[in-house]
Amino acid sequence: MEMDSPSQSRPPHVVIFPLPLQGHINSMIKLAELLALAGFKLTFLNSHHNHERLIKFTNIVAYFKRYPGFELKTITDGLPLDHPRSGNWFLETYEEAIKMKIKQRFREMLMNSNPPVDCVIADGFSGFAIDVANELGIPIIGFRTSSPRSFWVYYSITDIIKAGELPIRGSEDMDRLITTVPGMETYLRCRDLPSFCRKSDIEDSTVQLIVKQTRKSTEADALIFNTTDELDGPILSQIRTKCANIYPIGPLHAQLNTKLKAKHGESFDQFSNALREEDKSCIPWLDKQPYRSVIYVSFGSITSTSRDQLVELWYGLLNSKTKFLFVVRPDSVIGKDGEGEDVVKELMEKSKDRGYIVDWAPQEVVLNHQAVGGFLTHSGWNSTLESIVAGVPMVCWPYFADQQVTSRVVSRVWKIGLDMKDVCDRKIVENMVNDVMVDRKEFVNSATDMAKVINQCVSIGGSSSNNLDRLIEDIRMKRL
Ligand code: UDX
Repeated sequence: MEMDSPSQSRPPHVVIFPLPLQGHINSMIKLAELLALAGFKLTFLNSHHNHERLIKFTNIVAYFKRYPGFELKTITDGLPLDHPRSGNWFLETYEEAIKMKIKQRFREMLMNSNPPVDCVIADGFSGFAIDVANELGIPIIGFRTSSPRSFWVYYSITDIIKAGELPIRGSEDMDRLITTVPGMETYLRCRDLPSFCRKSDIEDSTVQLIVKQTRKSTEADALIFNTTDELDGPILSQIRTKCANIYPIGPLHAQLNTKLKAKHGESFDQFSNALREEDKSCIPWLDKQPYRSVIYVSFGSITSTSRDQLVELWYGLLNSKTKFLFVVRPDSVIGKDGEGEDVVKELMEKSKDRGYIVDWAPQEVVLNHQAVGGFLTHSGWNSTLESIVAGVPMVCWPYFADQQVTSRVVSRVWKIGLDMKDVCDRKIVENMVNDVMVDRKEFVNSATDMAKVINQCVSIGGSSSNNLDRLIEDIRMKRL
């Protein structure tokens, strides 16, 4: 009897399985659409909770009907549907949920799949998926949604500790250079290490979990990074010494834009993957503002600020010479119930003519709007890539995890912004916003040059476009 091989009788069937977090879903659903465009059968596996939210706030079901064989499936994240999933819920509950339920459900889903699964692309933070895929003999690729440099720092934490460069010995120690992360010796300081490294107890379970998951992900058959050789080439070479087969295929949102425009034309309305309701009223407000006069302020989907931090940021913006569009998620101000809303109302009263506030913005559209000239960001990897592609310089205020590394790279290596690292003071905010928005020539030139190079990478013949073609062929030909 002939084998049922995807190359002979049916399109390859790929299962894509992100972590249940906005920043992870965003890039992985874009990859899912790119593979569907290549004619693959796709199963996108989301948590029940996030699937419900996507149904509520987007047209996900209708949108993906255009791809025959695109299936949306759900799996538990270990918590009841009505749980608020705020704060550190993910790090606190996910590992236990994997042991209790997720691993078993994932195995059953793969085993019962018809047609059979030819390749799994799982979040690089889900080591258990590698074990399940290996057990069932299915090729598996890990997708790391954060930057390769932060991956490489996570990977090196064991060596940093062995060399005695961690734990950090107090605030006077923060500017010391770290010498044990190959390729980053000239610019990585203690204060640029991922936030978890600041714990005095370096054997802390969060640090250990991150190191374990990062090292485990190199056991996958290959790794996908949402970046380009042009942005991260030297570090990708370092990572190849641990996992030989790497696909740098980003920025994925730009890669998808390019392919969709080629297929459907400029005006095609893409899928917006927000787990919250987008407030599009900021677009008519931006339409009324002069060219490059507004700084966009957003700290992603997880960051929380204290009341005092919010007030400092706000006054820094108010005292600067620029207008601002500020995203303040209702759950992002730490304090008693309703306190966040009261602070925001109070601050807005004071800045009616200068600022506009929304709960959640259509970020990609905003960053590409002609009125936006800068981005005050938490340096999440998706936000950073979106800003780079739009040619918008950044002021970075990193919050946690990979963001401390990325903000350093933005300011020191790529020179397309400034790093506010560890400081939240109205005078510094004012000065940095003015540097990027008013005395801006140097940053605008480097951000514009970088945008040109990176947009080239996703065009036909560009490095990321070629790497995506290679990924598609390797899955199709079962070469993993
Ligand atoms: C998390 C991590 O914090 C980040 O560092 C990691 O790289 C990925 O997972 P998050 O903090 O949400 O993600 O930041 P980021 O990676 O920047 O992703 C946020 C996404 O939400 C972006 O794609 C952005 O376009 C979108 N967004 C954010 C909106 O669409 N509207 C908003 O108002 C804010």
